Amino acid sequence: MNLNIAVLPGDGIGPEVTSQAIKVLKAIATEFDHNFKFTNADVGAIAIDKYNDPLPEETLDVCMSTDAILFGAIGDPKYDNDPTAKVRPEQGLLKLRKELGLFANIRPVKAYETLLEKSPLKRNIIEGTDISIYRELTGGIYFGEKHLSEDGNVASDLCEYSREEIERIAHLAFKAAQSRNYKVTLVDKANVLESSRLWRKVVGEVAEQYKDVTLDFLFVDNAAMQMILNPKQFDVVLTENMFGDIISDEASVIGGSIGLLASASVGEKYAMFEPIHGSFPQAKGRGIANPIASILSAAMLLEHFNLHNEAELVNLAVEKSLKLHISTPDVNEKHDNITTNKVGDFIQDFIHNPNDTNLNFTNIHLGQSTII
Ligand code: IPM
Ligand code: MG
Repeated sequence: MNLNIAVLPGDGIGPEVTSQAIKVLKAIATEFDHNFKFTNADVGAIAIDKYNDPLPEETLDVCMSTDAILFGAIGDPKYDNDPTAKVRPEQGLLKLRKELGLFANIRPVKAYETLLEKSPLKRNIIEGTDISIYRELTGGIYFGEKHLSEDGNVASDLCEYSREEIERIAHLAFKAAQSRNYKVTLVDKANVLESSRLWRKVVGEVAEQYKDVTLDFLFVDNAAMQMILNPKQFDVVLTENMFGDIISDEASVIGGSIGLLASASVGEKYAMFEPIHGSFPQAKGRGIANPIASILSAAMLLEHFNLHNEAELVNLAVEKSLKLHISTPDVNEKHDNITTNKVGDFIQDFIHNPNDTNLNFTNIHLGQSTII
């Protein structure tokens, strides 16, 4: 298959984790005889520095003329601590999502057997957790009208949703449930918010077309508690933009590190793949950033193009790396010297030599294609 992939590494650890994902995609291209072409473009704080624009026109053009986008991370402390900044890196990502119509953000949450002890949650609570979060991505309070009074003392953000916006993601969530465990949980705040009541009504109507799927409702405050009390009750979690942002960071605790969570953002025409984590500026350039979220996002990219065997091999390689503790320090107390790059090298090597049964930590020559 020929694929043109836009690469937007962004800020902080974005470039270092994204380059591991590219390494992995290149290995897949070689092994499966595909032709992947990568085109880099600037986004975020780095784009502000160069062009005073977090999403330059040229970057948007690159995204619109490629088959898929691989996104790194966005954000810089110099903007976080300045509430008066008019231009912010995050605007680049939000604009990109909106312009490309990426209305559904899919965030899988899984408890890896080998990492069960890494989570602060107890093994018996998280073991077997397998959730797919469907977060609405181009509406709600993120994109509603914003207002700041002249005197700067009153501010508001409007949370608005239309039936169409709810329906289109609801269909995707129900379809996903049909290939999983036939359950959708809608997370909202329908006891307080009018927009949430519309979600309940519309999602209830959409559910009529998916009789084999059970639909549950949870208020977001209760859902936040249930997510760590009993995450196994969830299959597909469907929710609006802001609740999805919060719930998915919370859910990452189940997996043991936010550095493991990948995501796909899809719309009618475009698709973008990005880790759910931020730019983690404190870790930049230190080789400690976990590249797994980015690599698993690349696996979601492959899956998106129906390259199932390819995606499966990447997932297998990731599991192998975790099992052998070839992981960055966030999930690896045993060895604190495994760098971002080494994890990428191992996964790349595994893709080239998946049948090697002699892999273990002591005899592997990390970073080279010589697995003995
Ligand atoms: C995410 C991030 C973004 C969001 C930020 C960087 C704008 O937290 O993708 O979850 O809030 O959507
Ligand atoms: Mg977030």
